[in-house]
Amino acid sequence: MRLDGKTAMVTGAARGIGAAAARLFASEGARVALADVLSGPCRQVEAGIVDAGGTAAFIELDVSDGSAWKLAVDEVVRRFGALDILVNNAGVYERNTVEGLDLDTWKRVMAVNAEGVFLGTKACIPAMRESGGGSIVNLASVASMRGSMWSTAYHASKGAVEAFTRSAALQYGRYGIRVNSIHPGAIATDMLDEVFPDDGPRSGRMDDLPMLREGTAEEVAKAILFMASDDASYVTGAQLRVDGGMLA
Ligand SMILES: NC(=O)c1ccc[n+]([C@@H]2O[C@H](COP(=O)([O-])OP(=O)(O)OC[C@H]3O[C@@H](n4cnc5c(N)ncnc54)[C@H](O)[C@@H]3O)[C@@H](O)[C@H]2O)c1
Repeated sequence: MRLDGKTAMVTGAARGIGAAAARLFASEGARVALADVLSGPCRQVEAGIVDAGGTAAFIELDVSDGSAWKLAVDEVVRRFGALDILVNNAGVYERNTVEGLDLDTWKRVMAVNAEGVFLGTKACIPAMRESGGGSIVNLASVASMRGSMWSTAYHASKGAVEAFTRSAALQYGRYGIRVNSIHPGAIATDMLDEVFPDDGPRSGRMDDLPMLREGTAEEVAKAILFMASDDASYVTGAQLRVDGGMLA
């Protein structure tokens, strides 16, 4: 098993890509801390992992809350003895042009998507340094690599995640801590359902995708597992697109 003996923390683990990554990590032998603001659905993910013979613990966490991060990491280390892997996956979407976007929405998207990644990385590094290394996987998006006609703060926040990932990788490689970003394209999750509540434009978009279909949360989880595991032992500061060729 590829994560035997490792402890991982996955944010936004209640559903979608985070839940798929948490399940996959547990099946690969990791003890998994599931962090989310949605306690009910996240407890269901926890129960599913435990029922399947894995080890998981739900931790209620708003990733935009810096002091809550410290408590959450302390709790993970207290329960599981270490923290080897952090997946900064929690995220929120918005759909506005520059003129249509208000400052509060901009700040909220930045707080969760960009500040959440900074705060989580900062909170986990001491525990990883103490145990001699670790792997941090940040969920960016193809949105960090291109602009959008109808989404503004989301794309800016993912650009921040990509750039932040490079600096963190440079600063902490010497401590055995690898930091990489994953860039999904169109992945069939609740987030995409919320972005395209009307099926029309969404199915029309399929024709523009080289593989003519959306990806699944499980397909992204496999890429996250690669970056988190020792299979990627010489990979840091890298961007891995999981987009079915969308940006090719
Ligand atoms: N689905 C896609 O097409 C797609 C594409 C590119 C990137 N991504 C990114 O992948 C990640 C996961 O996306 P998803 O599609 O699974 O989304 P999702 O909306 O299905 O799940 C996101 C999870 O994050 C949690 N969350 C939101 N705000 C939070 C907060 N403040 N603190 C803690 N948890 C919080 C939600 O409760 C939810 O469980 C996100 O960062 C997203 O931006 C998704």
